[in-house]
Amino acid sequence: MIKFINNYLKIDSKNNSLIIVKHDNRSELVYYGKKLADHNDYSYFSSGCKDKCFASNCDYTNIRSVIASNGECAQKSSSVGVIKNGIFTNRFEYVSANIVEGFDSPLPNARNKGQTVCLEYVDVISKATLKQYFTVFDDCDVIATHTEVINTCECPITVNKLMSLQLDFIALEANVSTFDGTWVNERTRHNTHLTGSRFEISSALGITSAEHNPFMIVEINGGVMGFNLVWSGNHKEVVEISPFGRVRVQTGMNDYQLNYELKPGEKLVAPEAVMVYAEKEETVTNQMHKFILNHIINPNFAYKDRPVLINNWEGTYFDFTGDKIYEIAEKAASCGIEMLVLDDGWFGVRNSDACSLGDWVDNVEKTGGLKNLADRIKSLGMKFGLWVEPEMISPKSDIFEAHPEYAQAIPGVEPIERRWQLCMDLCNPEVLEYLSDILIKLFKETGVDYVKWDHNRSMSDVYSKCLDNQGKYFYNYYVNQYELLRRITEACPNVLFESCSSGGCRYDMGIQYFMPQCWGSDNTNAFCRLFIQEGTLVGYPQSTMGAHVAAANTFPNINIESRFNIAAVGAFGYEFDITKSTDSELDIIKKQVSYYKEHRKLLQYGNYIRLGSIFDSDLTGWMLVSDDKCEAMAVVVDKTENGRFKYQRFSFAGLDETALYKVSMRPQANVDGIFEFTAYGDALMNGGLDFYSMINCEIKEKEEAGRFASRMFYIKKIN
Ligand code: GLA
Repeated sequence: MIKFINNYLKIDSKNNSLIIVKHDNRSELVYYGKKLADHNDYSYFSSGCKDKCFASNCDYTNIRSVIASNGECAQKSSSVGVIKNGIFTNRFEYVSANIVEGFDSPLPNARNKGQTVCLEYVDVISKATLKQYFTVFDDCDVIATHTEVINTCECPITVNKLMSLQLDFIALEANVSTFDGTWVNERTRHNTHLTGSRFEISSALGITSAEHNPFMIVEINGGVMGFNLVWSGNHKEVVEISPFGRVRVQTGMNDYQLNYELKPGEKLVAPEAVMVYAEKEETVTNQMHKFILNHIINPNFAYKDRPVLINNWEGTYFDFTGDKIYEIAEKAASCGIEMLVLDDGWFGVRNSDACSLGDWVDNVEKTGGLKNLADRIKSLGMKFGLWVEPEMISPKSDIFEAHPEYAQAIPGVEPIERRWQLCMDLCNPEVLEYLSDILIKLFKETGVDYVKWDHNRSMSDVYSKCLDNQGKYFYNYYVNQYELLRRITEACPNVLFESCSSGGCRYDMGIQYFMPQCWGSDNTNAFCRLFIQEGTLVGYPQSTMGAHVAAANTFPNINIESRFNIAAVGAFGYEFDITKSTDSELDIIKKQVSYYKEHRKLLQYGNYIRLGSIFDSDLTGWMLVSDDKCEAMAVVVDKTENGRFKYQRFSFAGLDETALYKVSMRPQANVDGIFEFTAYGDALMNGGLDFYSMINCEIKEKEEAGRFASRMFYIKKIN
């Protein structure tokens, strides 16, 4: 509920309150935390210090703001910058706040909104208008917010900064957790303790990037807050602590190369940001997962079973024929696998990564006819999926020869190639038309059930002949990219899309709005996946995370049963040449697939709870618990690498303390016997099971014992 009480605006989610007060033509954030009752007065929360009587050689204002204008002699980061007639300084003053029916945005934003309030400000210097929206949702504690600048002046203005969210707090320190990395090492967790300093993460690569995911956790005064953006482009997150004891948190699009000219009447809408407050991180995770499933993911897929797939990439790379793919599908179908995904190399003359991107035309000689191949695979009772990389163009391609201007490049300058490819100039409406026509035709004619949509290089040489001002490039690129995705997903409503970007380099809510799954990482080594997946799942639900059992050719050589236990927490599949598997391996795969299908709902949509952390201990695990706590899956992993397991205990979590449960270990080919027992929830959650003894007496394969072990449990309430 959003309420106006006296001169306070009280924005209540289910369990949180955010309170803003009008204060000297400013909006002051006086409270964000646990829900408060509706009192008539919150003035005791206000900073109380009038602007003009605050010390002279420091910040202009002492109050906690939800916006900050450029150049108002504030040391801390501003949230909005508008240039008019060469003047960079603004002073946005609060005008009004009203409940509104919604807002227009060319960008994806949360579905199924509850109430929205719009705060309006006018810059007394340029006369531009700033609107700031806050939205609540009936079923969760997430609050969404964003800003927009409208040119209400008589001449053009330029926006050079527009953050989506700003919150100020009173504190001298903060703990920040960010999810950073590299290609093949995405979303690994970093914890930073901040005092008297400024912390910033960002991306300027044209994608959200593996370097820094926009999801961030900030702990201040004992409260834990999660922040994220519904956005896939350049972003920036700031946590800044002033020695005066003010903490400023900001998230939004990066102002890198942002120079957005608005004619009178035009507006620039920032991406939607989301925030949630909780007393512990586990609740932030749970709330973010629920929010993404209920308000971001396409409702056609939000709680729908995700098929068990096999992808040929790591099995064949470019070296395949239609018959080889059919053989893979046939073997996979005999194991119960439900979908074959044909990866890169089926189009143009692409037998290596040096050519053909943009030529989305079947290489009939190689595939034996794509439609024919899809039909043969479907006759096995399987679904058919296809890889594309629409936002890219190879200089060696028919499309580049015909339309070199479709590539991102500055006129007269040789653009930088990466993986022998250039980015398409999506700011050019012709590119948008070309891609939407050719892709919709391809997907419909082939009858695909699934599309893996890749994006394998970051942007450079950004330039579009269609823009009068290149400072619009990074923003307009995504306006058109989302438009492309909207057209395609509307034309193909039953096709499941999985986003990929050299693995997990564009893993964000903007992409998830159209594509319910994201390939977690090109790193399919189960050991490394423990880190990547733990980091990913802090902010994103497991059904969004593509995770596959890969071949056993990586170090450490992890048994296929453990590879399954680790991949089964995501949108699950296999990725190796199954035609080379032995009969006993096929038998194991068959059992795994059938077990996964039996428990699919829990594995894909159960409430995720972390049992430990791979970042600070050898023993780790996770649970997936049903809403009613009657059923749960648990995975426990010991990654001790020194050849000797230690006695280590683990406890389950998230169960009903008073209920009696039966705990059954998933039968594994490398484990003798069956392990089952019954116990009450309180004992399971507090007692601590001895993992060393459990695995030591059952282990069959000694080589695994020295390095790595994992077990999966099904926990069912029996009384
Ligand atoms: C990227 C993806 C891989 C695969 C290749 C194909 O690297 O992350 O999974 O699809 O492209 O070129």
